[in-house]
Amino acid sequence: MNSGSARPGPGRRGHLSGPRVRLRPPAPEDLPLLFRWMNDPEAVAPWDRFEVDSYEGLAQSVREAPTDPRSLAPRLVVVRREDDKPLGVVGYYLAHNALDTVDLWYAICLPEERGKGYGAEAVSLLADFVFSQQKVSRVGAVADVENPPSYHLLERLGFSLEGRVRQALFHHGQWHDVVVYGLTRAEWERKGPSPAGQA
Ligand SMILES: CC(C)(COP(=O)(O)OP(=O)(O)OC[C@H]1O[C@@H](n2cnc3c(N)ncnc32)[C@H](O)[C@@H]1OP(=O)(O)O)[C@@H](O)C(=O)NCCC(=O)NCCS
Repeated sequence: MNSGSARPGPGRRGHLSGPRVRLRPPAPEDLPLLFRWMNDPEAVAPWDRFEVDSYEGLAQSVREAPTDPRSLAPRLVVVRREDDKPLGVVGYYLAHNALDTVDLWYAICLPEERGKGYGAEAVSLLADFVFSQQKVSRVGAVADVENPPSYHLLERLGFSLEGRVRQALFHHGQWHDVVVYGLTRAEWERKGPSPAGQA
């Protein structure tokens, strides 16, 4: 990433394992599942832009993501600890050429596993990881105004609503407004390890 050398966070922050889920980089064996998910709008993009990917294109973007700060590829697989079942994927990307901020994205790809707290725990781990590994001063996320689970998740993790961007996202045949959320490093340091992120 552009943000320089690793900066270890305090205590157990930056770990990739919480009480119920852990995050791990995709292994080659995960690619068929990721390919299925990334090509299923209900799995990854019920409230978002959706683009079909080729298997080779996905494999290449996953391979190149570690050296591409702007990559939107899935960077980490969300796995349930009790049975190692993959539940979803998360990613992060340098959101703006001139600003020192990284945006997160996240999907619990099995609809029947949503609403059980896995998403909040995964994003808490992801935010801890990004703040611990990079020098960024802010971590953000953008959610469709019609996607309450996404922005409720951010609010639960202490992100603040920073604004609304009108007509910024085209999907399902129309333009949608999005809400922008952010968590500054100072806020992250103040709030301490979130319950969702404690091991
Ligand atoms: C957004 C998403 C990752 C949330 O993960 P999740 O595991 O379902 O969410 P959680 O169970 O951790 O709940 C997070 C918050 O959303 C709320 N929530 C969950 N499902 C909800 C629903 N259907 N309607 C309203 N709020 C909901 C929860 O109550 C919780 O808020 P709270 O702490 O204030 O109660 C998941 O719904 C998903 O993958 N959706 C499809 C992909 C997507 O939209 N990704 C976000 C775009 S970047």
